[in-house]
Formats: sequence, structure tokens, C-alpha cells
Amino acid sequence: MIIPAGHIFQHCYSKYGIPAINVWSLEQIHGLFRAAQKAKAPFIVQFTPVARNYAHPDMLMAMVQAAAKIYSDTVFAIHLDHGDRMQALQAIDAGGYTSVMIDASYEPYEINVKLTREVVQKAHAKNMEVEAELGVLSGIEDDRNIDEKNNKFTQPSEVEDFVKRTGCDSLAVAVGTSHGAYKFSSGQGLQFDILEEIQNRLPGFPLVLHGGSSINFEEIQRINAAGGQLDTDARGVSEEDLLKAIQYGICKINIATDARLIWARVHREFFSRSPALFDPIVPGKIYMEAFEKFNLEKFELLKAVGKADELKYFTDEN
Ligand code: 13P
Repeated sequence: MIIPAGHIFQHCYSKYGIPAINVWSLEQIHGLFRAAQKAKAPFIVQFTPVARNYAHPDMLMAMVQAAAKIYSDTVFAIHLDHGDRMQALQAIDAGGYTSVMIDASYEPYEINVKLTREVVQKAHAKNMEVEAELGVLSGIEDDRNIDEKNNKFTQPSEVEDFVKRTGCDSLAVAVGTSHGAYKFSSGQGLQFDILEEIQNRLPGFPLVLHGGSSINFEEIQRINAAGGQLDTDARGVSEEDLLKAIQYGICKINIATDARLIWARVHREFFSRSPALFDPIVPGKIYMEAFEKFNLEKFELLKAVGKADELKYFTDEN
């Protein structure tokens, strides 16, 4: 069942978290949907513009719509991650999404407001929701690489004005995380004081944590043991911090890097242990299973297990 993210956020606010998983392949879609069906957990499946270009936007959307039929007990929203103005407008026109993100966070404040408001008007006319961003996250996502020194925390003093003037439905905040495997290299960590002030100014409003991967250190070690050369100072968001962030209004937790690391570990180990094999289906199945396990653990951690059934009967009046 495909439902708007806003509906899920009303149900989960300050109680449990929703993993928003970036996908670009068939194996990931099976792994994610299988886990969600088993755990009866709601989730958001999302694509970045680069993933859309890689797989083709129609192909990705068709795979997710097929997954909705194959895993017919799942409850989820479909989201465009990190669209610029053009990409967000294209996704709104193409349809299929329940929400889009307009990321104009790197623009000056007034331009961010203007671009976001335009996308909100077009999206709402088609019954789609919009996630906007205030503040700038460092790290690498898609083809954008923001240096740590250009990271800008969200200014709590701007959030009410921004949400009021843009009409956005959820807000991504820059509170210390970064995209990629090397978070917190400046040593600052998650800024709960900023998050608390944002929540006080926007009570009940759904907030989004980008850079939500946990970066399991065992994955890094296994990748390196199988010939990889990843920096061992890779760090992610701790389980405690994720749970604490939920109490401060974080509803949606974006995850992409963890999925990439599992992919790299599975394939490196497979090819180094089985040098004579070359059938993609064999490591593909291992990746599906590993990704299913990852998502099951994430649903458990974020306390989302069993919530899909409740959501099926949850109305806005509840
Ligand atoms: P990670 O790099 O921590 O997985 O974050 C992904 C993300 O925020 C996508 O929007």
C-alpha cells in the first residue's frame, strides 16, 4: 500500500523512526521490501537523480510499483531525494512519487524560499508532498561534494519563517551529520541543542535527518580484508543518537552509504573467495539477503516493527 509520507509522520512523530532507503537496483528493492513485509514496518523508498539516471526513472518506478504488488502487505511512500528545481518539477510531472525533495539549501536563504515555494505549489496541485532543506550538510551525495568547512548548521531562528513561507511538508535539517562514510571528522557530533530549539519552534512538524547511515565498522574491516582500501576513520550515527533524535522530532532517517558498504563487502568477499565464478546471480542473491538483514535490524532499532498494520487503519483524525 502506497501512502503519503506525511501520514506516516503523523503516526510515528516522537515515537519511532522511518528509514528512508536510497535504492538504485533490483537486488536492493527485493531486500528492502522483503524485510518490510516480514517486519510489518512502514518505510520510505527513495531515488536520487543519479540513481534515476543510472537505472532510468521509469525503470526504477516500475520496479517499485511491481514490488508493491509482489510484497502486497508493505506500507510505504515513494520519494525523490535531493532534487534540484528542474529534477523536482520533472518528478512531479512524471508522477508516481508521493513526495519530492527540493534541495536548494546551498542557495542564499531568499532563493531557497523562492525555489521551494514554487515546487511546493506545483507538488500540492498534484497531491504530492515536499521535503525542503535548511542548512548545508557536508560530504558526498550523488555528484555534489561539500567540504566540511562549508557545512552550515540549520539556524533555528529561520525555521518558522521558512516553513510558513514555503508551505513545505517536512524539513531536512543540518545538525551535524554529513553524507558518506566519514561523518563527524570535525569531531562535533550531532547537535542536539540545535535540534531541540528547532523542535520547540516547530512543534509536531516532521524533521528529516540526512546522513543517517550508521557505518558498521565490521563492514569496513571485511571490505579491507577482501582487498578494499577504505579509510578506517569511517564513522556513522550511533544507535543511541538515532533514537535520541527521534524524540526531538526526527521522523525520516535517510540511508544510502550503509547500502553501498554492504554491496562492496558482499561483492569483494564473493569474488576474492570464488575467483572462478562469474555468474552475477550468485552474489546478487547474497546481496539481497544481506540487505534484507540490514533493513530488518534497522526496523527493529527504530522501533518501526509492526507499525505498518496500525498505519493501515490510522486516519488523519486519530
Ligand atoms: P548517508 O550517506 O549517511 O547514507 O546519507 C544518505 C542521505 O542522506 C541521502 O539523502
